[in-house]
Amino acid sequence: MAKPRGNFIRPLPERVINKIAAGEVIERPAAVVKELVENSIDAGATKIDIVIEKSGSKLIKVIDNGCGIAEDQVEIAFSRHATSKIASFDDLNALYSYGFRGEALPSIASISRLRMVTRTRDSRIGTEIIYEGGVLQSRQPVAASPGTTIEVENLFYNTPARRKFLKAESTEARHISRTAMALAIGRPDVGVSYSLNDRRIFTVPPDSVLKDRVTEMIGAGKTLVRIKGDAGPVKVTGYIGTPDMVQNNRYGQFLFINSRYIYSPSLAHALAAGYGDLIPRGTYPVGALLLTVDAAEVDVNVHPTKAEVRLSGERDVHDAVYRIVKESLQQDGIVPSLKSSSLKPSAHNLGGSTLRGRASPSGQGYIPGITRGSGLDMDALADIHNVPRVPQPSESKDIIRVDRNTGEIMETAEAQDGAASVSSGFSLIGRFSDLYLLLRSGDDLYIVDQHTAHERVLYEETLVKLENSAVEAQTLLFPNQVELNPEQMTLFDEIKDMLNGSGFGVSHFGGRTVNIEAIPSVLSHKSSEKVFLKVLDDLASEKRAGGDLKKAMAQSIACRSAVMAGDSMTDREAVHLVTRLLRCDNKYSCPHGRPTFVKITREDLDKQFGRT
Ligand SMILES: Nc1ncnc2c1ncn2[C@@H]1O[C@H](COP(=O)(O)OP(=O)(O)OP(=O)(O)O)[C@@H](O)[C@H]1O
Ligand SMILES: [Mg+2]
Repeated sequence: MAKPRGNFIRPLPERVINKIAAGEVIERPAAVVKELVENSIDAGATKIDIVIEKSGSKLIKVIDNGCGIAEDQVEIAFSRHATSKIASFDDLNALYSYGFRGEALPSIASISRLRMVTRTRDSRIGTEIIYEGGVLQSRQPVAASPGTTIEVENLFYNTPARRKFLKAESTEARHISRTAMALAIGRPDVGVSYSLNDRRIFTVPPDSVLKDRVTEMIGAGKTLVRIKGDAGPVKVTGYIGTPDMVQNNRYGQFLFINSRYIYSPSLAHALAAGYGDLIPRGTYPVGALLLTVDAAEVDVNVHPTKAEVRLSGERDVHDAVYRIVKESLQQDGIVPSLKSSSLKPSAHNLGGSTLRGRASPSGQGYIPGITRGSGLDMDALADIHNVPRVPQPSESKDIIRVDRNTGEIMETAEAQDGAASVSSGFSLIGRFSDLYLLLRSGDDLYIVDQHTAHERVLYEETLVKLENSAVEAQTLLFPNQVELNPEQMTLFDEIKDMLNGSGFGVSHFGGRTVNIEAIPSVLSHKSSEKVFLKVLDDLASEKRAGGDLKKAMAQSIACRSAVMAGDSMTDREAVHLVTRLLRCDNKYSCPHGRPTFVKITREDLDKQFGRT
């Protein structure tokens, strides 16, 4: 800590003030990129190039074709609190620019060597200005095209403490890449190119539509789910990933308010909650959500880097976003697909490799003994191994037609000879390991986990029955008595009515003994005593976690009654199960969040086999 120097109070020199401000505004190299690109967008640029060397520690260069700065204004732009964007505090209520504080340029200039070349359209000549550690080095007229170029070198050279706290180069590169992506997603009207350490990561043209932007940045060649809705004064648009695109961090998640990229735990929560149990716990959906609100409803002046904003009615906005996301995901076609990390470039590759580069299939190796192009007859192979041959679409005996857009069952006909077919879209190929059902739909292969699928089906069906007090009960031939511990007894007293409305017939028998006269029919093949105690335990843990007891009841019944791995199902049962699964609201995962099926596309397989 610096020694106090008596009580002579005096203002700090401007350079020191700027350096202190830089500590707040410029946390890491990515913040420089953000500030410079935002300035370029505010200047009306339609084309912005971002060039980064050594993850920003060597060079951060931003070139724009914006309005430029007039010669007599250039130095003013580098003085603290000088801005062209607001004139009074009230202007913040109608803010349509990213900048408003007049702090970014002086801050950056005070902790680097900065060179700016700028020219307005009206002027025939440009200005070059150079600062080092905030000290003006030179200012001179230069030939330049309209717009502004800023080069920031040796960032943090005079703030050793900050430099020390920078993370590994690859981490800083990831932050920069994410910032560049966010800026590009937030403003599809602006063309952006971004290169990192001599490698072009992306180039996106001006006047793009949001869909193309988001797909380019995070779509990894996949179809994204469109989000569109109104929540009172808030408009929500965006594109989000299918459940199988989840990541184990929030790197691929971009949230915006009025085109400003923000950090918002509340919105991030709403987005994840919208997926509900479509995604496993601890994973994060990818996508971009853009909220538009009246400028007066957002306070952007609450955080030094403007990364957080305050929104009036935040709770309502949260709930609305949750609802809109959830509804958008109800559409069909959102199915998990088999992850093949070597095939898919994803947002996390940024920083180390390119965004768009696709891994080549080489190195995966072909299966020994089978050479490509050998004219292998798959049908003959199937005969040898006694595998049912894949029925061709024309041979499929449809029993049910499913509209693949809505998931609606369109038409039902009699099932024939074991019903090896589910719908015009899906047909059963076979079963594997008494656990997985294999189906095809067009060129796609679906592998269904019979346990999780059955759990999902029973869960949703039981929930509906619970709502309508219509769970079928099976009366026991011989009532059973069971002794409860004190905790179970307390819970039993609390939820007795609920149990009796859920297919159980239970009553107090005296002391801590409960009399069981009936259990839900779906569980009738199990020991009534065990089933009752299991359900009670499940509900006890849910109650401790403060969860929804009705859902827990449905989950518990579903889990206990679903077919297990190893239980063999007949063809007819398998077909029936998949038909019911297709009718579920959330057909993609079981109530615990495990997938009910994965999809392998023909394209995935072709890549695996090097047929690209
Ligand atoms: N790329 C640019 N093209 C044209 N003018 C620019 C550019 N960058 C900065 N300016 C001018 O310099 C001024 C100062 O920029 P600076 O980033 O320091 O502050 P700001 O953008 O107004 O506010 P904030 O600190 O919130 O970013 C801006 O108000 C703008 O007039
Ligand atoms: Mg600015």
